[in-house]
Amino acid sequence: MPRTAAVTVRVPAKVNVQLAVGAVRPDGYHDLANVFLAVGLYDEVTVTPADALRVTCTGPGSDQVPLDGGNLAARAAELLAAHHGRTPDVHVHIAKDIPVAGGMAGGSADAAGALLACDTLWDTRTPREELLELCAELGSDVPFSLVGGAALGRGRGEQLTPLEVKGTFHWVFALADGGLSTPEVYRECDRLRDLAAGTDPAFDLADPAAPEADAALLAALRTGDAHDLAAALFNDLQPAAVSLRPSLAQTLTAGADAGALAGLVSGSGPSCAFLASDADAAARIAGTLAASGTCRTARPTTSPAPGATVTTP
Ligand code: C5P
Repeated sequence: MPRTAAVTVRVPAKVNVQLAVGAVRPDGYHDLANVFLAVGLYDEVTVTPADALRVTCTGPGSDQVPLDGGNLAARAAELLAAHHGRTPDVHVHIAKDIPVAGGMAGGSADAAGALLACDTLWDTRTPREELLELCAELGSDVPFSLVGGAALGRGRGEQLTPLEVKGTFHWVFALADGGLSTPEVYRECDRLRDLAAGTDPAFDLADPAAPEADAALLAALRTGDAHDLAAALFNDLQPAAVSLRPSLAQTLTAGADAGALAGLVSGSGPSCAFLASDADAAARIAGTLAASGTCRTARPTTSPAPGATVTTP
């Protein structure tokens, strides 16, 4: 039976503890070895029956979120409705806490949230595999937002293998003013590689470094050792994000000076992620970073976090 009352889904942000970017594919995407960890910052997506599809959004940066057909949550509602031959007659409300265009998969979270919320509201009971395929149509990071936890993403990031994680990792996220465009960051990565290829004959543009999951990083997740994970963190998009937003270099230095075990740009940025040894250290680092003047705000949180979850009874 379709529900008549609102359905709310909570969806986590992510950090990429490894983002190995390979060559550009014929379809314009890059081959990746992408280790996702879901972290405890969440958006909430609420869907309510309505005469026609409409989207509203509140929270930090919500004025930057498109409310028309370009909104990823609206596209998710349309895609699921089309999949089941019905009309997407819902009001989708997004309560944002994940930074907008921050490299933490906020838009992907909203798409996964809207898909699960509509499936619950309409009682369409889409099998998990089909939901994951719809997620992949919406964006490379959307399948991970649905499943959460930790996973290795291959292909353009959408082919997921769940990963084992022991215990809890403590993080601080330095959130920036304004976002970075993911396609622009990938383009800048290609441009920097073109330059490198011009100066280093050994650099192979067709195979910059075939992206593979790093064994030491996967072992650190399995054992839950924050120092080992800190030593293995890496993001091939970081030089491109710093090139487009040079002030991120100061943010990364401020996090290191504040006592982080390691830091990196989250995904395509501009959010920066810092690994801390425990919750007390994370709280201290967040305080220092927030006062450093190198970011808009700093948020302590933990990982892994669960994927998209219906929170209404
Ligand atoms: O899949 P999604 O729509 O989230 O990707 C946004 C953009 O990021 C793509 O249009 C592409 O420019 C870039 N991208 C890429 N390679 C990937 C994932 C994303 O080049 N594996």
